[in-house]
Order: sequence, then C-alpha cells, then structure tokens
Amino acid sequence: MEKKAIAVLTSGGDAPGMNAAVRAVTRAALAKGMRVLGVRRGYNGLLNGDVFEMNLRSVSDIIHRGGTVLYTARSLEMLTPEGQKKAADTCRQLGIVGVVVIGGDGSFKGARALCREGILCIGIPGTIDNDIASSDYTIGFDTAMNTAMEMIDRIRDTAQSHDRCSVVEVMGRRCGDIALETGIAVGASAILVPEVPFDLQKDVIDRMMQTRKTGKQHFIIIVAEGIGGVSEIAKEIEEKTGIETRATILGHVQRGGSPTIRDRVVASQMGYKAVELISNGIGNRVVVMKDNHIVDYDITEALNMERKFNKELYDIALSISI
Ligand code: F6P
Repeated sequence: MEKKAIAVLTSGGDAPGMNAAVRAVTRAALAKGMRVLGVRRGYNGLLNGDVFEMNLRSVSDIIHRGGTVLYTARSLEMLTPEGQKKAADTCRQLGIVGVVVIGGDGSFKGARALCREGILCIGIPGTIDNDIASSDYTIGFDTAMNTAMEMIDRIRDTAQSHDRCSVVEVMGRRCGDIALETGIAVGASAILVPEVPFDLQKDVIDRMMQTRKTGKQHFIIIVAEGIGGVSEIAKEIEEKTGIETRATILGHVQRGGSPTIRDRVVASQMGYKAVELISNGIGNRVVVMKDNHIVDYDITEALNMERKFNKELYDIALSISI
C-alpha cells in the first residue's frame, strides 16, 4: 500500500520564517514515515494539482531564506464551496491525508473547509502582522519589526541631521503591533495605531511642541498602515509646528529578508507540532503560541477569538517618548 502523504502549503502574504516551517513539516513528516508533497502557490496548487514530491534535501538551505520556496497566493476560488470540494478531491486523488497550511486567518478558513471535506488540516500562523487572535505570536513578526527598526534608525540619522520630523508608515493591515513595538524600539515621539483613538493636535502636535521646549529638535512619528495617510499627517504637522516634515511608507521591504532566530525557532516548533497532530489522526486545529508554549486550538474556536492590543506597552511607550 502506498504511504500516506502530507501536503504543505504557504498562503496569503509571505513572511520570513515560512521556509523554516516548511522545512520542519517536511523533515518531521518524513521521519514519521509519511510522504511529503509540496504545494505551489497556496490553495491554487491544490486546485490545479501543482504539487511535487519532497525529500530531506528538498528543504536544504532554506532555513535562512526569506519569502517562501513554495510560492504563495491568495485564492478566491478556495472561498467557494466548489473550489473547496475540488481541492479536497485533489487531496484524495493524490493520497493526501493531511495538509499543513502556513498563513493567516483567511488561510485557516480554507483549512477548515477542507477539514469538513474529510482532510486533516492544521493551520500555522505565518504573517508579519501578528494579527491572529489565537496566537501570541505569528511567524515573520520579529523579522519584520527588526527590518522596520533598522530602516527607521536610518531615517532618524537624516531627520536628526536636518532637525526634521519624519512620519513613517509601517505595515500590519488593521493591526498596530508592528507600529507599537517598532515605535518603542526607535524611541518614536508618537505611535498611531487603529486600536487607540487619537487626536493629531493633542496627541502629536502639542506633544512635539512641549518636547521641543526641552531641546528636542527632531522627531519620529510611527503610523500603522491601518491609519494610513502619512503624507497628509506630515503636511499638517509641518503646517502647525513649523518643523520641516517628511513622510515615508516603508512598504514591502518589511516582508523580505533572512528570518531572525526567533522566527526560525518558532517556525520549527510549530511545523513539528503540526505534523505530530496529523500523524495522530488529528485535524481542524491551529498551532499557536500561548504564554511561550506551543499549543493547539480548534480552528473555529481560534477564528472566533478576539485580539487584545497591548495597551500597557502602548502607555509605557507614551510615557517615555518625551
Ligand atoms: O499581511 C501582510 C501584509 O504585508 C500586510 O501588512 C499588508 O497590508 C498586506 O500584506 C499587503 O499585501 P500585498 O503584498 O498584497 O500588497
């Protein structure tokens, strides 16, 4: 009888550390005597049968690489019942008993749909945004923040040299975590995030003017993508403070690059755990980080959880950004 196969795919926006997770899944599954199939371009690969057999060497030399060697995509077809059935049919034809899906909440919905069709699916949180409520941490977050921090340190050099204010937008979709932690790390004068209402005059401009009286001449303002409008914000700051102000959108530079040690380690742990679940005949779960432990939750339960913003850290950032 042919060995059972486990498939692995990356879906949604790529994130540094996804490759480390693919490697862990592949190696752990092979060690358990299963076949491993790599699926290209997220669910599209399952829909089109774009899969390939993987061995121990297929995942050599990828642990340190950003992006995803499996490519990734956001699949609209997988949102439809027809698409979900088609993907499950492909799995059955190829002898795939389980699929490990590395991606965000949207990707987990596809995994849940496949589970309903009888395929054991496990989700692993992979996104730079850290916006998955069920997990304290998502693969890629640490690398993206470190990249953002380095870039903003550079912006600070030029802002300082010109006595300017720099308004910098960081990624994160509707989640302010990248902005919050990067903001604190670069000593930003203000951090604007979707989770905390703000008044530009009171919370940014007045604070800048107050701080200026103490001798501070240059300013970094971090704006989360979910707030946006950095050019307008910069214009208003310049008009109202008289301080020359520039706007920068960091953009996709934050998505690339070699994963940090944290991302490599967490990805390896999560990949291993996902295979353990499937090999025990368990599906419909997401592997998450909770209080520094790798645990798993039911997918629906995980999708229904509410994200908590770290207001305590935000208040600390505010109190020392003077
Ligand atoms: O989810 C990761 C992310 O980089 C978000 O921070 C951002 O909003 C989005 O993806 C950008 O997507 P795209 O690469 O499709 O422009």
